[in-house]
Amino acid sequence: TQLSQDELKKQAAWKAVEYVKSGMVVGLGTGSTAAFAVDRIGQLLKEGKLKDIIGVPTSIRTYEQAKSLGIPLATLDSQPKLQVAIDGADEVDPNLDVVKGRGGALLREKMVEMASDIFVCIVDDSKMVTGLGGSKLAMPVEIVQFCHLYTLERLKNLPAVKGCTAKLRMDGDKPYVTDNHNFIVDLYFETPIQDSQAASKQILDLEGVVDHGLFLDMVDVCIIAGANGVEVKER
Ligand code: A5P
Repeated sequence: TQLSQDELKKQAAWKAVEYVKSGMVVGLGTGSTAAFAVDRIGQLLKEGKLKDIIGVPTSIRTYEQAKSLGIPLATLDSQPKLQVAIDGADEVDPNLDVVKGRGGALLREKMVEMASDIFVCIVDDSKMVTGLGGSKLAMPVEIVQFCHLYTLERLKNLPAVKGCTAKLRMDGDKPYVTDNHNFIVDLYFETPIQDSQAASKQILDLEGVVDHGLFLDMVDVCIIAGANGVEVKER
């Protein structure tokens, strides 16, 4: 049920917040799972169990949430070194490589999580896949608005993602626009991506692409909540 999946997300999130210690600069993720972690950090600050935390939000949505909780906030411009970042994911493979960005925040998430000593990924066990792209859900690519149809065509013809379907993400009858004023192309795969490193490189090399939702070699700790408890996997 919805309730129990939310309960699992919360369990993973609370476990992840144990990595946060007073005085740390903390990356605040985006999405329904990460929101539980942001709430928990706000709560511990209020109770005085955490002190001197600075949060670096990965989206405008998370910025608003953290601000309403009274969490002191900064950006990478003034706080370029983070000790820990906590965020959800859409798919996690056995090597702890992940797909992110179904919530559209992939670029800021990647920038913030790359800047962190430790990236803690939090999921319920429905996110586990044997290969990235295997869930049949979207693998997002953030692209500039200029000639987006041209870029979409070139994207789906890259050798490493051959056979995928590419769709411009919509928000009602208009293209979805990211916090960075870009568009998103969602790639869908019939079978998992064979070589995600090659896919990552080929997609990034394309002019007009800003970034993609493959987060490879980035997760240090993955916390997976399932019916039988919370599992902590380290890379
Ligand atoms: C946001 O852009 C995404 O990367 C989210 O972090 C990811 O989609 C996980 O979201 P949920 O926790 O809501 O599934």
